[in-house]
Amino acid sequence: MAGYFISFEGGEGSGKTTQIKLLVAWLAARGLAERTRVTREPGGTPSAEAVRSLLVEGAADRWLPATEAMLMSASRHEHVEHVLRPALAAGDIVLCDRYNDSTRVYQGVVGGVRSDAIEALNNLACGGLVPDLTILLDMDVADGLSRADGRDSSENRFESKGLAFHQNVRAAFLSLAEASPGRFAVIDAARDATAIHDDIVDIISPRLISAGVTV
Ligand code: TYD
Repeated sequence: MAGYFISFEGGEGSGKTTQIKLLVAWLAARGLAERTRVTREPGGTPSAEAVRSLLVEGAADRWLPATEAMLMSASRHEHVEHVLRPALAAGDIVLCDRYNDSTRVYQGVVGGVRSDAIEALNNLACGGLVPDLTILLDMDVADGLSRADGRDSSENRFESKGLAFHQNVRAAFLSLAEASPGRFAVIDAARDATAIHDDIVDIISPRLISAGVTV
């Protein structure tokens, strides 16, 4: 029984958390609750969550982009080895809120860390573990930021980086998706949650079936 690895990417306030919840309910309704594993980055293990706090709290200029890339990769390595690989080996459907495309975009393209350095870190952190499918939730940046602004959270370090930063994030995600069309599905996230969920299900169902999962 092979596992299936789905990552969710997108800008601030793009609705990843809502869509993951809706997908968890959809999988549970098909008898797949036991096989579904939800996790997130940065974080996903106790030590990776400790690194997460360093990354998502505090002033926008707290870290240089290369330091951020190393911390993201450090937390990712713990997550890959302790959570993702064991879950996939056990045949789970893994839903991961962000993965290494976020490092390519936020620290690489937008942060200015050279892509060969980012890929070296990704290789060290992930050892070649690539998602089977990456759902990119794409929407207007200002609308996403104002949605994210409504959250009661101390985790607003990245949100505070400003509109131009996040516009670059959006463009960088879209060009990554264009470069890997087989792995990425770009979804218009500026619609109501049910319409977005229906699109995600249409994309995921045939892929799960091809992977031998009955849905
Ligand atoms: P996340 O918890 O997904 O925040 P949100 O729900 O607001 O999108 O991620 C926290 C922040 O970390 C987010 O602003 C993006 C950033 N990030 C990176 O810059 N690089 C990375 O590799 C990852 C995983 C996240």
